[in-house]
Amino acid sequence: MSLTGRELPEEQLVAIDSDVLHHVLDRSGATFAPLPTTPAAPATEERLLQSFQAVFGEIRTPVVSAWGEHIPFLFGLISLLRPRRIVELGVHHGGSFLAACQAVQDLGLESECIAIDNWIGEHHAGKTNVETTFLPFRQYLEELYSDCAGYIKADFDEASLAFEDGSIDLLHIDGLHTSESVQHDFDTWMGKLSDHGIVLLHDTNEFKRDFGVWRFWQKIRRNYPHIELKHGHGLGLLIVGEHSPLHPSAGGLAAWLSSDQGKEWIQVLFGGIGPAFWSQANTKVQLANTEGQLDNAETRLANTEVRLANTEVRLANMEVQLATIREGHKNVSVERDIALQQLKTISKRLEILKLKSIEKRKKLKKQRDKIQILLYRLRKKKMAKQRKGQKFSLTQNLQRIRLGLGHK
Ligand SMILES: C[S@@+](CC[C@H](N)C(=O)[O-])C[C@H]1O[C@@H](n2cnc3c(N)ncnc32)[C@H](O)[C@@H]1O
Repeated sequence: MSLTGRELPEEQLVAIDSDVLHHVLDRSGATFAPLPTTPAAPATEERLLQSFQAVFGEIRTPVVSAWGEHIPFLFGLISLLRPRRIVELGVHHGGSFLAACQAVQDLGLESECIAIDNWIGEHHAGKTNVETTFLPFRQYLEELYSDCAGYIKADFDEASLAFEDGSIDLLHIDGLHTSESVQHDFDTWMGKLSDHGIVLLHDTNEFKRDFGVWRFWQKIRRNYPHIELKHGHGLGLLIVGEHSPLHPSAGGLAAWLSSDQGKEWIQVLFGGIGPAFWSQANTKVQLANTEGQLDNAETRLANTEVRLANTEVRLANMEVQLATIREGHKNVSVERDIALQQLKTISKRLEILKLKSIEKRKKLKKQRDKIQILLYRLRKKKMAKQRKGQKFSLTQNLQRIRLGLGHK
């Protein structure tokens, strides 16, 4: 998902440089030539007024940063200086660097902005998660500032080799904040500054743990005209280039800005504007997030309502089905009762029939018994008759025989 809501074409993501694949915004391998020694435009009152307009610009990318309260000052500074090349040592999420890019773009400057960080982290910023720092930062550059910005993902010392002397107008040092580290970074990069050169050092007013920028600041500020903002952990500005429009030797406004009165004005002004604008920018982000959450909640609510309505429709359908089933059930009950009644009647009839049939059987048996007795008697009579008949014919025959023999 795009951070600004715009999708990037694939071909914008990588570029082929000889046989090595580089991201289009990756400036490792490039060399940075010295900037021409042309005189910078003086800090006239008119320029100062224009710069004030820039100060009130809306902060476009308020990413997580301890630097945020200095962004209005940076907007004004870039407007006043019009630096040709801006280099930042220590980028992390990109709070200060993205603000510099915004100023360059909004003011229509031709400045080149180079971000340098190994995105590994150190014990003050903590171990860096590339997924949540470098990648979103690079995406912001791709989507918003690919015309003016690039990055080098390397140690400061290694990256310094690509910069020739006099190649940087505005150098922001915001790496490891121990006194030794900031001294080392300053010494390594000091020669790279042009005759317009300005150095910004963050955390000049931070005294916790082993933070030591304040110690280095107390020492280094003696060597250069400088301005310091006390709010937002402190921001020191060293005017190292003799031809910087801010160099007091330019006289007029530049001289006034480096005077005690000018410094106090700047501190009071930006000590008020900086925190207020940073807080407003963050409030806007929070508001946007809250609105987003609200939108999501509303969408979820609408979906839930739709689901609820569907459920209610299903419920109503089920109730209709239930009523139909109940009606059917009632009918079945009536039919069952009728059938049971019929069954009872049939059973009764059956019982009566059974009893009748038993009676009939009994009667039949009696009749059969009678008939058998009659038959027996008949047979008996018949046999008696037969025996009588035989006896008679035997007597006759004997008579005849006697007669035949002369008996009389
Ligand atoms: C305090 S943060 C930068 C904050 C950032 N300027 C902002 O606006 O929020 C410091 C960063 O410097 C980087 N860093 C520190 N020492 C470094 C070194 N020697 N080389 C490369 N990066 C370094 C760390 O990785 C970390 O991301």
